[in-house]
Amino acid sequence: TGVPQLAATGTLPPAATCTDLVADAYAHALRHREGSVADYIPALASADPDAFGLSVIEVDGGVHERGDTRQRFSIQSISKAFVYALLCEAVGHEQALAVVGVNNSGLAFNSVVAIELNDGHPMNPMVNAGALATTALVPAADAAERWSIIHDGLSRFAGRELSVDEAVYRSETQTNHRNAAIAQLLTSYGRIREDPAEVVDVYTRQCSLLVDAHDLAVMAATLADGGVNPVTGARVVTADVARDTLAVMAASGLYENSGEWLFEVGLPGKSGVAGGLVSVAPGKAGIAAYAPPLDAAGNSVRGQIATAYLSRALGLNIF
Ligand code: DON
Repeated sequence: TGVPQLAATGTLPPAATCTDLVADAYAHALRHREGSVADYIPALASADPDAFGLSVIEVDGGVHERGDTRQRFSIQSISKAFVYALLCEAVGHEQALAVVGVNNSGLAFNSVVAIELNDGHPMNPMVNAGALATTALVPAADAAERWSIIHDGLSRFAGRELSVDEAVYRSETQTNHRNAAIAQLLTSYGRIREDPAEVVDVYTRQCSLLVDAHDLAVMAATLADGGVNPVTGARVVTADVARDTLAVMAASGLYENSGEWLFEVGLPGKSGVAGGLVSVAPGKAGIAAYAPPLDAAGNSVRGQIATAYLSRALGLNIF
């Protein structure tokens, strides 16, 4: 495919080489025009299909970027990985495993059938069912406190206070009947014990948080750095929690295409339907892309191509 390949080593190439390879990966992915912008949430349909940003942030804080890395968009499903980390931090490995699960459903991110096929179990925190269960489990006195814990935690991952895109939040609130149904179904199976409408509301808010590719690369670099934000220096979660989060991202971060992603890229990743995609090279760097056109599974096309290029060129594949 003409993509340079570096054997994986314990470290990244020198900074100047990383900067050049980010530019090469960007130019390589820019040629691809496949995919379409999500429109099932009406406010997302107006995204610029040509927007494209690529950011790599090293665990020592080094930054390598190209394109629209300061253009903001809603984090969407990428929030799932970071809220799961907050949950693991709060309730521990065993409870997160028992209640939310870690196995790939093999079905679409918003599948109802997956729940029914698995005795009402939400399967994993990367699909909507597991993400709703995750949000519901975050220990809090009420929905307002639950939102505040999630908002504060995601902001600590990003190293700045994130804000909600109110237009996206309203748009999704008016149309997310399917998530309401999933939350009701999980409630019927006793998998959600909070008010399901409140859980959907907090989940919708967390999905509507505005980020840019730079923010997402900082968030990913925090997981790469064993839970310490390399920009602020603050510990956000323990190293064990960062490891557990990467495991579920590897298994299900790109939904039913997670196996193919792992085979081609070899990194834990997480996509969002607004066009964001984060990947984590443990001990090395966080990678983030923003490019709204998606494939059929809901994953950014250019984001996947640019990340696959970088994984090979920078020797990041963990296998
Ligand atoms: O719940 C939803 O449908 C959206 N808030 C998030 C879905 C999403 O990002 C799927 N990803 N690629």
